[in-house]
Amino acid sequence: MYDFTYYTPTKVVFGREAESQIGNLVREQGCNKVLIHYGGGSAKRSGLLDTVTASLDSAGISYITLGGVVPNPRLSLVYEGIRLSREAGVDFILAVGGGSVIDSAKAIAYGLANEGDVWDFYCGKRTPTACLPVGAVLTIAAAGSEMSNSSVITNEEGWSKRGYNNDLCRAKFAVMNPERTMTLPDYQTASGCVDIMMHTMERYLGHGDTMELTDAMAEGLMRTVMKDAVILRDDPKNYDARAEVMWASSLSHNGLTGCGSDGGDWASHRLEHEIGGMFDVAHGAGLAAIWGSWARYVYRERPDRFAKLAVNVLGVKPAATDEETALLGIAAMEDFYRSIHMPTNMRELGLNVTDEQLEELADKCSATANDNLGKMKVLHRADMLAIYTAAR
Ligand code: NZQ
Ligand code: ZN
Repeated sequence: MYDFTYYTPTKVVFGREAESQIGNLVREQGCNKVLIHYGGGSAKRSGLLDTVTASLDSAGISYITLGGVVPNPRLSLVYEGIRLSREAGVDFILAVGGGSVIDSAKAIAYGLANEGDVWDFYCGKRTPTACLPVGAVLTIAAAGSEMSNSSVITNEEGWSKRGYNNDLCRAKFAVMNPERTMTLPDYQTASGCVDIMMHTMERYLGHGDTMELTDAMAEGLMRTVMKDAVILRDDPKNYDARAEVMWASSLSHNGLTGCGSDGGDWASHRLEHEIGGMFDVAHGAGLAAIWGSWARYVYRERPDRFAKLAVNVLGVKPAATDEETALLGIAAMEDFYRSIHMPTNMRELGLNVTDEQLEELADKCSATANDNLGKMKVLHRADMLAIYTAAR
């Protein structure tokens, strides 16, 4: 096993009445002026925004609002949020939404606490020294941004999607009411379940060794999400399944399932981020479309890890060799994705990708990763192109 630091400073308030505590949670941070940041309208339509503002009002906290965050959140709105918040003297950013809203909130918080262009942090030119406090009121179980150290932003100039990881941006609190996720379109629920699976698998399918305890927690988490994703496909208002998946979203990406590992592979994520940047697809669905092609390209590096996943998570009966078991496991994971109406290639994702676009995806991915991607098998540009081509 590898040495590790486990740092999860986010206070979690979970359950049906969780929103009533928002005002007090901001007050606990010693803050008085909030930017409420939200998305395209679901939080308004559901009445959640009214609940949030009522809680802030009762705690005597003033606020301004900025909606309009879209999936694959845009840099231009981040700039607008920074400008509005500076003018209003905002000292706390409250994200009401999913990964896109939370990531946009984190970017605004970096921008407010540091001089210069916030995009510099996302393209690795500079490192921030501070971040305004951020809180999350979660409405979709998926990205895990409510407890992660990560923020992913898309720059419309060149349609580059870039992630930046730093503990400074970890949310001070996350308010999670599973009932709030019941208004999700089925496609978003399923896409979120894939993302949760993938955050766990990226860590589980690393090249190095890991801990038995970490493996067992990861396997339990994945089995639970697979079971509940199918329950939610048939019964979207099932509270217990919503709750299990929501908690799994946070635990899959707060570091817990990576303790003692080599940090994980993350190639599937980086390959998908280029697809999301160029074609604006739902992140989890994009992951489902690329994963099988990645897995078949790399499984021979650690067939034992893939075989363990196959047997312990997907219920595959061990075959004569680990390699055969691994392949059965990859097929079983794709069957699961199909069973919840997720794609297993880019065509099923709704894309008709040209040869030139495959080259562009490989160029962008290789450039962002300095032509050195992943740990299970280190991928260079030719490997990336081969995987994109197989996933077409
Ligand atoms: O904008 P609204 O109207 O709210 O609609 C959203 C959006 O269209 C809708 N939605 C959310 N909650 C809802 C709801 N609709 C009805 N009822 C509700 N309760 O769902 C759509 C997707 O929302 P989004 O926030 O984009 O989803 P998700 O949480 O999957 O976030 C995806 C983004 O997070 C990034 C992805 O790359 C992508 O940009 N990621 C962030 C990570 C992180 N910060 O740690 C890690 C991930 O690997 C990921 O890369
Ligand atoms: Zn993800």
